[in-house]
Amino acid sequence: MKISTAEYITSGIHAAHYPDDRLPEIALVGRSNVGKSSLINALLGRRNLARTSSQPGKTRAANFYLINDGFYLVDLPGYGYAKVSQSERQRFERMITSYLTSREELRLVLQVVDFRHPPTALDQAMYDLLQQAGAPRIVVANKVDKVGRSKWEVNRKGVLASLPGLHQDALILFSAETRQGVEELWKHILAALSPQ
Ligand code: GTP
Ligand code: MG
Repeated sequence: MKISTAEYITSGIHAAHYPDDRLPEIALVGRSNVGKSSLINALLGRRNLARTSSQPGKTRAANFYLINDGFYLVDLPGYGYAKVSQSERQRFERMITSYLTSREELRLVLQVVDFRHPPTALDQAMYDLLQQAGAPRIVVANKVDKVGRSKWEVNRKGVLASLPGLHQDALILFSAETRQGVEELWKHILAALSPQ
């Protein structure tokens, strides 16, 4: 995928703050610190467009990145970060749920999980929410570089087993560090963006 332009446009915590130009959107959801912002940078081949941090809780609003003047990548706050106050956690939850269930521009959700561990209860709840919302989604298992190759098959099966109904073609082993999986993920994104 050739990236001609990639720029940060805006952040918002409410639909009124989101872009209103009706361009299609691809959103990322996942536990805090799982690597959503890093994944955006890996996809775009940019080092620091989306801000990342080794401290969880970095992304605190929906951040919109405009790609090739044609669509947005939307970086959402992570879930499951205990140190965020309860009221802020509820605010994130409401915001993410309302975005995922009612955003008309949404074409595909990239649900990012950590390949080192089986999906958590919160990952499973997010997966169920996406199923119920009928949102097209791909599960991206990130940080594959941290797992020895001999464990890949067992871990891959573990992810499939804990997310019922997930087709194996909709699970991508990924590393934002080595960029493994970038081309495969682009194929899914471009398919979701092309007119049906
Ligand atoms: P929040 O904004 O808090 O929701 O986190 P996030 O999901 O955006 O995570 P972020 O991209 O900030 O990455 C968190 C940490 O994981 C950073 O220290 C990254 O360098 C590291 N990281 C992300 N992806 C990978 C990967 O594929 N491999 C390795 N080894 N480290 C990664
Ligand atoms: Mg982030």
